[in-house]
Amino acid sequence: MYTSLLTLLAAAGLAHSQIDLACSSTDLACIENRTRVDQALLEIPNFVTYPIQDDPFYATPANISGAKPGQILKLEQRSNVSAYDIPPGQSLSRIMYASVDNFGDVVPATAAILWPFTPKPFNGSSSYPLVAWAHGTSGIDRQCAISNLRNLQYDFRSVFTLASMGYAVVMTDYVGLGSDNFFNYLAYKLHANDVVYSVSAAQSVFPQLSQEWVSFGHSEGGGVAWAIGERQATDPIPGFLGTIAAAPPPFPIGTTTNVGNSVFTAFVSFTISHLYGLDLSTIFKPAPLQALQLVQSIGGCNDAGYAAFATFNASDIYTNLSWPMSQPAKDFARDYSVSGRPLGGPMLILQGSADTVVGTVGAAAGFNATCAILNGTTSVEYVSVIDQDHNPSMYASQRLWLQWIEDRFNHVPLQAGCRTSELGSAFAGNVQLPERFTVGYTKPWITIFTSTFLPSYLWPSNLGYAQGGS
Ligand SMILES: *[C@@H]1O[C@H](CO)[C@@H](O)[C@H](O)[C@H]1NC(C)=O
Ligand SMILES: *[C@@H]1O[C@H](CO)[C@@H](O)[C@H](O)[C@H]1NC(C)=O
Ligand SMILES: *[C@@H]1O[C@H](CO)[C@@H](O)[C@H](O)[C@H]1NC(C)=O
Ligand SMILES: *[C@@H]1O[C@H](CO)[C@@H](O)[C@H](O)[C@H]1NC(C)=O
Ligand SMILES: *[C@@H]1O[C@H](CO)[C@@H](O)[C@H](O)[C@H]1NC(C)=O
Ligand SMILES: *[C@@H]1O[C@H](CO)[C@@H](O)[C@H](O)[C@H]1NC(C)=O
Ligand SMILES: *[C@@H]1O[C@H](CO)[C@@H](O)[C@H](O)[C@H]1NC(C)=O
Ligand SMILES: *[C@@H]1O[C@H](CO)[C@@H](O)[C@H](O)[C@H]1NC(C)=O
Repeated sequence: MYTSLLTLLAAAGLAHSQIDLACSSTDLACIENRTRVDQALLEIPNFVTYPIQDDPFYATPANISGAKPGQILKLEQRSNVSAYDIPPGQSLSRIMYASVDNFGDVVPATAAILWPFTPKPFNGSSSYPLVAWAHGTSGIDRQCAISNLRNLQYDFRSVFTLASMGYAVVMTDYVGLGSDNFFNYLAYKLHANDVVYSVSAAQSVFPQLSQEWVSFGHSEGGGVAWAIGERQATDPIPGFLGTIAAAPPPFPIGTTTNVGNSVFTAFVSFTISHLYGLDLSTIFKPAPLQALQLVQSIGGCNDAGYAAFATFNASDIYTNLSWPMSQPAKDFARDYSVSGRPLGGPMLILQGSADTVVGTVGAAAGFNATCAILNGTTSVEYVSVIDQDHNPSMYASQRLWLQWIEDRFNHVPLQAGCRTSELGSAFAGNVQLPERFTVGYTKPWITIFTSTFLPSYLWPSNLGYAQGGS
């Protein structure tokens, strides 16, 4: 499978050897070069439209003014699937709808709906059972909308599998990815608004969707899935059956330790700057800040971000390593972390025990904090997926999460209270483990890169989120 990838890259006249590894952290021209080459290799082939502004679907319509959250702004009933690498038999719709931002203002959001060939029947119903998907980090520019990715970012890690089983999957892009607004990366409760309103909006135009729904997210989306459970306790919409938080980092930034070199932490500094006035020029060195701004200005996403920062340590990137202890960062952590609040339905937490991206401490701390206040009223399960890393844990636990979703639609009762368990293989020691592997399909499915693919020179780099709480 790797051969087909190399063939594709060769056909594009590009090779990894063109990426200049030796960039100094002060040499913006060199960083720009390797960022652009990386983007051309790893991102642009997976975009449906580049730049995304060329697709009028993503432009904000005039009737946003006066719209209420959950109302439809645009409807693309049947998308042209030939631009996508979705499995045969599946189809796609896109919607633009109204959501709300941190000020309570109405803002536009976009979403795709992935349709199964035929719906999974429940209890004699012919409706399409609905799963609301909350995606993981894809980048911080509007170009990084997952509805604009040929593989919808998660391919068989989640969304293709769900549709193959007969679920309709509504996948929000989150406000600011796709739509022409600021993207508040890791502001879980805002993304939770986007998911919940994507459900209402989709149901309003597609009556064949079930009224009941399950939410499910991974990584950044795991935090969002958790926030949806909390939102359903205070501000519910109908039909919620439960939520699955896979590899969630409940605490989007650790506020007790110095910053690391993760590009995700650099991304979240943009959110904190936008929401709480963190002055980026006082924490970043000039070239790394300009490099991140460049990534955004060229519509770069995760991979371009990795390439920009690839070989730098935290001291290369920041002038102030303790900026996560600043008041704006603490305010963001206080207002946007999840856990320690009631839930409006059952929650399943899936966490790889060998997760190198988010670690395991955050999910466990969040589980403990939530269990401490639930008083046995709701079911919360923490399943440790033994020896599996951040994305591999999604494949390894697939049977479990599919069963959990099916059980919710069948109204199978859950035991209230908190439980932990382990999901491990009898073949431990011989199971497939790698975090970063390629999935390539050849024509008629032209090559798909899963977003787990990284060039080998980046494998040792630290992509981690903060593990601890505040
Ligand atoms: C980018 O780097 C490659 C490899 O070092 C070099 O061949 C190419 O000329 C550079 N491109 C630009 C635009 O600087
Ligand atoms: C906005 O316009 C679209 C297209 O005419 C329409 O389908 C939608 O219902 C309108 N939404 C609102 C909130 O007016
Ligand atoms: C669908 O998109 C393909 C290219 O992605 C294009 O060739 C084709 O004409 C489009 N079909 C329609 C009906 O627009
Ligand atoms: C970070 O890397 C630079 C070289 O880019 C090096 O001079 C410095 O000692 C490193 N700092 C730490 C704390 O490792
Ligand atoms: C670095 O940031 C911390 C937290 O905001 C602050 O207390 C400290 O004064 C800053 N250091 C410098 C040198 O600006
Ligand atoms: C969660 O609680 C368990 C049981 O009290 C404890 O063993 C564990 O250390 C806690 N984990 C974290 C991260 O707080
Ligand atoms: C759990 O019990 C405590 C103390 O009685 C109460 O303050 C809290 O609201 C309860 N939590 C829920 C979710 O009912
Ligand atoms: C199945 O449908 C019947 C008839 O509408 C209803 O009484 C029953 O509660 C449903 N069962 C489940 C598990 O949803």
